[in-house]
Amino acid sequence: MWLIITLIGIILSLLYYGARHRHNYWNRRGIPHDAPSFPKGNIGDWPSKRQLGVIFKDYYMKYKNAGRPFAGFYFFFTKTILVTDMELVKRVLIKDFNNFENRGIFYNEIDDPLSATLFSIEGQKWRHLRHKLSPTFTSGKMKHMLPIVLKVAEELANVFKDKLSNPQELEITDLVGRYTADVIGTCAFGLNCNSQREPNAEFVSMGKRAVTERRYYGMLDFFIFGFPKLARWMRLKITVEEVEEFYLRIIKETISYRLKTKENRHDFMDMLIEMYQKHQDGNTEEGLTFEELAGQAFIFFVAGFETSSTTMGFALYELALHQDVQDQLRAEIKEVLSKHNNEFTYDNIKQMVLLEQVVNETLRKYPVLPHLTRTANSDYSPDDPKHYIEKGSVVVIPALGIHYDPDIYPEPEKFKPERFTEAEISARPSCSWLPFGDGPRNCIGSRFGIMQTCVGLAHLIKDLKFTVSPTTQVPLKFVTKNILLSAENGIHLNVEKV
Ligand code: HEM
Repeated sequence: MWLIITLIGIILSLLYYGARHRHNYWNRRGIPHDAPSFPKGNIGDWPSKRQLGVIFKDYYMKYKNAGRPFAGFYFFFTKTILVTDMELVKRVLIKDFNNFENRGIFYNEIDDPLSATLFSIEGQKWRHLRHKLSPTFTSGKMKHMLPIVLKVAEELANVFKDKLSNPQELEITDLVGRYTADVIGTCAFGLNCNSQREPNAEFVSMGKRAVTERRYYGMLDFFIFGFPKLARWMRLKITVEEVEEFYLRIIKETISYRLKTKENRHDFMDMLIEMYQKHQDGNTEEGLTFEELAGQAFIFFVAGFETSSTTMGFALYELALHQDVQDQLRAEIKEVLSKHNNEFTYDNIKQMVLLEQVVNETLRKYPVLPHLTRTANSDYSPDDPKHYIEKGSVVVIPALGIHYDPDIYPEPEKFKPERFTEAEISARPSCSWLPFGDGPRNCIGSRFGIMQTCVGLAHLIKDLKFTVSPTTQVPLKFVTKNILLSAENGIHLNVEKV
């Protein structure tokens, strides 16, 4: 008995000493940082008080003039570099990308195939897959997919109009979420999910669960995110069982249906199946296994559904607060359409200059993924050897902080689409607009995301007027526990026909 108590005592003391040693790292290096708390380090306010991106933003503001290219930070016990200098941002994301190509997040391709996505996998495997998937997202491919997006967007406008007998208050995040779910559902899975008309669509509920729920009721999150390699070695998973079963089933059904009917829809699934067939024919170099295909179809859905609908929701909120911009935008959409037989095409959407500026400014104020991460593959010394980045450190780029830096964007709280004229953009430092990240590991789906956001917004603004209602939360607050930015109580707006 005494032996066991002594052993437990020794183990606890070692753990305590190890934790203290870890939380002393920045002190030992003489790098400015906030005092950490046990066990969360510097993220004590998350998940109950502040969203993670907001914590990084506040930290960036505090340390950006401290005369160093970064501040020290502890994410639980992980030594983390919070970059405060635009030159270092550029080096990490672009110039010295080879040393920072991985995000260092959990995946387990054997036991949890849906976790092994382009977003999470590392090294040679990532390089290879990115190379294989890049042709899926060219503007030529976007043009092919546009008719699918347009059909779903027409339905979106009809759903809104059908709900309006009189001017009426609507919660819009759910409605636009169903639009992007239908778009991605059709383009990535080839399903006519009809979730815009079907309130209990399983596709949407599973999609929501995929972004908000995790295995083991999230109780092992700290361990899985803090020690991803160890968690993989222990064969842990993150995808919830029902979500996994649902997606693997529909992916299997879709593949066999398409192979049987030889139906060609020019969508993501077609391109993935083409790669799957190459693998079946022995071309492992260019082909994908079933598990690899499933992981990518899943990330296209997860990354493409929530991000774009949230952006649309925030854009409508800002347009409701800025009626002058909304009126100008409606006039622009109508003018471009009237010149082109009232038809939306890839090229005439590109002519809606203000629409793109509105979307860009929305993404500046609300970058859905508000911070970017990379890990250092090896020790890295930029200029001053004091500022070396040790192998294995996590590097955080506080996109939200940079977007609200008044030295880069004067009056950052104000919504000003005119910040995105060509002249204004080129006057700012590079890497100062990061809603899609930057460099070789940026968002692969940015073109598609912008396309579905612009098409959806244009269809709504063309015939509908959005205004704030007594229930609209102004200023808007973010849900603190989610990694992606989202509005605390949804977005309630008055909507009427114009
Ligand atoms: C408004 C819409 C979107 C936003 C704001 C957004 C944002 C982002 C951001 C910030 C990253 C990380 C970039 C970095 O670390 O440098 C990312 C990565 C990624 N996004 Fe998007 N995204 C959007 C739409 C989409 C769509 C539509 C798809 C797919 C159909 C997609 C698929 C991905 C994938 C696969 C990655 C990982 C890329 C890699 O690691 O190689 N995203 N996205």
